[in-house]
Amino acid sequence: MADPSHSPLTTHHSLPTTDHFRDQGLYRVRRHIGSAQGVHIRYRGRDFLNFAANDYLNLADDPRLVRAARRAARRYGTGAGASPLVVGYLPPLRKLERDLARWEGTEATLVTSSGFAANLAVISALADRDGDVFSDALNHASLIDGCRLSRAAVHVYRHGDANHLEDLLRREANKSHRRLIVTDTVFSMDGDLAPLPELFDLAQRYDCLLVIDEAHATGVLGAGGRGVTELLLGAKDQTGGAELLIKVGTLSKALGSQGGFVCGSRQLIDYLVNTARPYIFSTALAPPAAAAARRAVAIVAEEPERRQHLLQLADRLRGGLSAAGFPETKSRCQIVPVMVGEATQALKLSTSLERFGLLVPAIRPPSVPDGTSRLRISLSAGHTEDDVDRLVTALRRV
Ligand SMILES: Cc1ncc(COP(=O)(O)O)c(C=O)c1O
Repeated sequence: MADPSHSPLTTHHSLPTTDHFRDQGLYRVRRHIGSAQGVHIRYRGRDFLNFAANDYLNLADDPRLVRAARRAARRYGTGAGASPLVVGYLPPLRKLERDLARWEGTEATLVTSSGFAANLAVISALADRDGDVFSDALNHASLIDGCRLSRAAVHVYRHGDANHLEDLLRREANKSHRRLIVTDTVFSMDGDLAPLPELFDLAQRYDCLLVIDEAHATGVLGAGGRGVTELLLGAKDQTGGAELLIKVGTLSKALGSQGGFVCGSRQLIDYLVNTARPYIFSTALAPPAAAAARRAVAIVAEEPERRQHLLQLADRLRGGLSAAGFPETKSRCQIVPVMVGEATQALKLSTSLERFGLLVPAIRPPSVPDGTSRLRISLSAGHTEDDVDRLVTALRRV
């Protein structure tokens, strides 16, 4: 009789082969980077101009963050050693939560070990199998997985389409005890913005919580760098809407460190501390990462010129691409896609740009829908106008 432990389905050989992915242009590798993150990075022994990172404010290797991390490591060590609910809630983390709350103008914040974990934590703690979640069709994987984890009924509305969302809300009215609308505020592969004022209005009228992920907006958009909420909602961000608005951010992109955070009332944060499994059953953020993020929050407040320069570069890039005949996109921020279509073609273009010393990643399914592969240009406050012009010239040529 066959030994079930040797069934083909239990061996690695039953997994799809490398060729399976390669044939479709979907094979992924990890680039071996040989330097710190920055506008100039080392790859395959050569220097590249980097348009691939989410280090939007050029802080990931900033000496002030490095110093803060070093000081925290000397005093509190390199690892938190336990869940925050056991003995992992150390001073750098507590101070970071306090500073984030002050900066965001919210009663309290909760810092998680990644932005991904923050989204899993919030959605799975707030929605359950009796609930309904209304989710934008292009939401990030962490929001989608949060919905799955919650086991709520998920209703996907067409990307950025508040009318479609209202149809779905009307159809599902009064069926469940808790309803959530969840959306990215900046969509990471297109650089477009969610229609937040409309979503906020719908959340009020249909008695929903509005969970928004500011991962690509924190530190970049809004006069104070507080994201699309600040840009499009203004005072509602802080006052009347505070009870229905739950804002998630990441420390891993513009803030140059690692981790995620949730803003809300003290009651909400207490509830998450007591119920959110991705938070409770995971080691607290490491002290050096917390200290570096805290320094970054101060820099975002003190140096608005970083985000202003970044957004001016984005305007320049969009203008240059348009003048060169590339189709318009919906980008409104530092993320600018160049639409290609087929995955193999996008990959070929990305490789051609490497010959010009430029790193621009090809984004392919499943990160984007089939047939919409693209180059994703992501700008940094450390880029210069010349860097942007060099990229446009190279794109023209390839
Ligand atoms: C929209 C969005 N949310 C959340 C995350 C996850 O954040 P982190 O990298 O901190 O886990 C990402 C990361 O790519 C993202 O693009």
